[in-house]
Amino acid sequence: MTNLPSSARKAALVFGGSRGIGAATARRLAHEGYAVALTYASRTDKAAEVVGSIEADGGVAIALQADSSDANAIATAMDAVERLGPLHVAVVNAGIYEGSPLEQFPLDMLDRMLAINVRGVFLAVQAAASRMADGGSIITIGSNTAVRSGVVGSSVYAMTKAAVATLVRELALDLAPRKITINNIQPGPIGTDITAGFLDHLVEGNPLKRVGRPDEVAALAAFLSGAEARYITGASLTLDGGYSI
Ligand SMILES: NC(=O)c1ccc[n+]([C@@H]2O[C@H](COP(=O)([O-])OP(=O)(O)OC[C@H]3O[C@@H](n4cnc5c(N)ncnc54)[C@H](OP(=O)(O)O)[C@@H]3O)[C@@H](O)[C@H]2O)c1
Repeated sequence: MTNLPSSARKAALVFGGSRGIGAATARRLAHEGYAVALTYASRTDKAAEVVGSIEADGGVAIALQADSSDANAIATAMDAVERLGPLHVAVVNAGIYEGSPLEQFPLDMLDRMLAINVRGVFLAVQAAASRMADGGSIITIGSNTAVRSGVVGSSVYAMTKAAVATLVRELALDLAPRKITINNIQPGPIGTDITAGFLDHLVEGNPLKRVGRPDEVAALAAFLSGAEARYITGASLTLDGGYSI
């Protein structure tokens, strides 16, 4: 933990930081010395746990309830983030997985995934970029399913994550004049609530015979937001133990 006085702290924002990959990323960015804001949809208890653990470690964190599909909620959250310090890093992690074979695929499931995994990512990037200091970093959490899922019923989820990869590649051009980098991490199977139901299948299909840990994704996010990664932008980096090969 870098113990900077609070007035010197830069802010980092993690969309969807109450559980799993987002929680690990919030903790890691706090450890790097950022004052961290994290958003969540409904799990106030989990968000408070993450804030509490960062504070116990000497860091600064706030939790903001803001559904990623709600543009007004995101705008309100951005006002609170600004009070933490100048925004230098935004990690757009909030996302959901739902699956079904084509024949029974419910349209409301399709709409939810598009609203959160695609529209929500665009809203978050747009809001973060508008408040971010020049030279900052935006990182999205896509998925290796944009390359290969290997799981029947994952078509729409995979499509949403392929959309994120394309969005990031193209937005790199929009953001380059301000020296803001934007990159997309494509995790493979990671041990979180999302994968809890089918871990065995995911381990079996993985060359390294394990699932990844949230802190391994957080480490890549920390690298992409750091000084050594300033020449990387528009990239999708897959981190999946070789699962997509
Ligand atoms: N786990 C994997 O194997 C894996 C692999 C590839 C990609 N990913 C991607 O990584 C990201 C995180 O996954 P995870 O496994 O860490 O998931 P998770 O454990 O289910 O956590 C999801 C996080 O996103 C938040 N969230 C969900 N919907 C939201 C919404 N509408 N508005 C605001 N926040 C919302 C949740 O908040 P609440 O706690 O309030 O619900 C929670 O903090 C997702 O984009 C997922 O698609 C995961």
